[in-house]
Amino acid sequence: MAQGPLAQVLRHLPLPKDPDLLVGIETSDDAGVYRISGDMAVVSTLDFFPPIVDDPFTFGRIAAANALSDVYAMGATPRIAMNIVCFPKDLPLECLREIMAGSLDKLAEADVLLVGGHTVEDAGVKYGLSVTGFVDPANIITNAGARPGDALVLTKPIGTGVTASALKAGRIDLKDAEAAIRSMETLNKAASKIMRETGVSACTDVTGFGLIGHAMELAKGSDANIIIRAKDVPLLPGALKLAANMANRPRTIASSREFLKDEVKIAGIAEPLEALLYDPQTSGGLLISAPEGRVDALMKGLRDGGVAASVMGSVVERRDGWRVAVE
Ligand code: CO
Ligand code: CO
Ligand code: CO
Repeated sequence: MAQGPLAQVLRHLPLPKDPDLLVGIETSDDAGVYRISGDMAVVSTLDFFPPIVDDPFTFGRIAAANALSDVYAMGATPRIAMNIVCFPKDLPLECLREIMAGSLDKLAEADVLLVGGHTVEDAGVKYGLSVTGFVDPANIITNAGARPGDALVLTKPIGTGVTASALKAGRIDLKDAEAAIRSMETLNKAASKIMRETGVSACTDVTGFGLIGHAMELAKGSDANIIIRAKDVPLLPGALKLAANMANRPRTIASSREFLKDEVKIAGIAEPLEALLYDPQTSGGLLISAPEGRVDALMKGLRDGGVAASVMGSVVERRDGWRVAVE
């Protein structure tokens, strides 16, 4: 669902308050966090969606990596998970078995136990997981801690939205599609571990609202402004060319751009690149805000850990007229 309608729905609902509810729904964070003791909190999240690739095993892997990502973004350790499945009665069961096998493969890599789930008959396939993790409340990383002077680091290239639609329509080089699939299957586990060890100010993962949409959440959550340097944003191979073809653009590129236009300052950027900055990501990377003095250590750790990250922006003092600028 797009950001605008969802905000409208939530605005007038009585949202719960509790002293042990450390991160609730209203701060647009990646997961909810509930304290169960002085040094232990439960982190809880849920994500599911229709297949974005034809191969069911690969889809399962991507769906699991995507669902786990919200826990990693909070600096927490995922531990148990439950399936959420919509499946048509006329499809072979083997297909569902493959989706779950792919998911279990990624859960094993993440050291997460599948403990149950729920399946309904539906017209189309949808699959995802609810994931529960743990964190010491002192070590939670939210989207509220970014400080002026911080550098912004992105741990995966963007462009999975345009790539997935081009793949569905058969309009893509298979090599480019494979790069996107490998990226979406990659757990944010290593990146999360390294950012925890380094000590960072804030983090969120880049998913459905695109890089600008999630940068906006970080800016608002932290009461600061954010500058994105477009030329430093890592892109999937071929993504720029795909974004130039309107037929490859997921609808949410236009709706996110429209929803955020009053708070985004953007000039001198080629239009297809601007569109890509709103491209909805599946299993996107972590967008990390790190104090200037720790950026080198963070980047070295990520490089050594096999994470191809880029420093692509910075956090500045709150000022009026815009919240996210793209230069
Ligand atoms: Co998220
Ligand atoms: Co999510
Ligand atoms: Co049930």
